[in-house]
Amino acid sequence: MSTSSKVILITGASSGIGHSAAEYLSGLGYRVFGSSRTQPQEAHFEWVCMDVTSEDSVREAVEEVLERAGRLDVLINNAGLGIVGPLEETTDELIYQVFNTNVMGALRICRRVIPIFRKQGHGLILNISSIAAEIGLPFRGIYSATKASLDALTESLSMELKEFNIHVCSLLPGDIATSINQNRLVASLQKNSVYAHNFAKVHRQIKEEVSNADKPIVIAKAIARIIETPSPRLHYTVGPILQKTAIWLRILLPQRFFERLLMLFYGM
Ligand SMILES: NC(=O)c1ccc[n+]([C@@H]2O[C@H](COP(=O)([O-])OP(=O)(O)OC[C@H]3O[C@@H](n4cnc5c(N)ncnc54)[C@H](OP(=O)(O)O)[C@@H]3O)[C@@H](O)[C@H]2O)c1
Repeated sequence: MSTSSKVILITGASSGIGHSAAEYLSGLGYRVFGSSRTQPQEAHFEWVCMDVTSEDSVREAVEEVLERAGRLDVLINNAGLGIVGPLEETTDELIYQVFNTNVMGALRICRRVIPIFRKQGHGLILNISSIAAEIGLPFRGIYSATKASLDALTESLSMELKEFNIHVCSLLPGDIATSINQNRLVASLQKNSVYAHNFAKVHRQIKEEVSNADKPIVIAKAIARIIETPSPRLHYTVGPILQKTAIWLRILLPQRFFERLLMLFYGM
């Protein structure tokens, strides 16, 4: 199928990675539908309103794409939320909100799109995970857990959908300079929290690393390459060399030694 006839739906297209990818893929000639709750100010792609935490909203948005384009070839589950806080002091509400967005949100859309792909006899689902999925990061345990869950779902879905010629894979970015810093949920610490000192240090470092990171176009280009790969790999990692190396060090080094290195890195 030629680039221009492929129809792509990418969630979380109002800012950051999703917006950059939607713009880039449109520029390459794909027909791109970008979804989000808020409408992006400038967009060269077609926008559809979708809240990934709402079953009705997901159904309506997927129906709208089908009505307008008549087909769908690629789903990119990108919508996501960051969260930071000590696990002991993070409320159930915040945790549920992040799992509902990052994990259930992706699954909700998959359930709507899989029957379309099956009927067509092909399709690609690309889940935007994170290098944080590979390591339980301090004060980012919930975020790491959602992305690790997404990668596990990716692996299960890949096997379940193989016989229908539906490819499933995930892309694990390292830090990327987006609005994730501003949009990240932050747990309210208890008065005189025992975590206040370490949490403040780590939180500051997380924000600095994201602010100084690569621009989202790096991920947009990686997404474009995956879309054009006839048989995509299960997982792709794109990020700074230090963050990619950490994944290997975690496997190769004694576990407690790696943990110590990570804590030193965060000044804990
Ligand atoms: N930036 C990084 O360092 C980094 C690293 C690894 C992985 N990631 C992942 O990359 C993805 C994109 O993040 P980003 O960095 O581009 O962050 P971002 O700039 O904050 O963008 C997040 C996008 O998700 C959408 N979104 C959030 N909640 C939603 C909901 N309930 N329904 C529909 N859309 C929702 C937002 O749109 P609305 O608010 O308008 O709905 C926005 O378009 C996320 O899955 C994130 O976890 C980011």
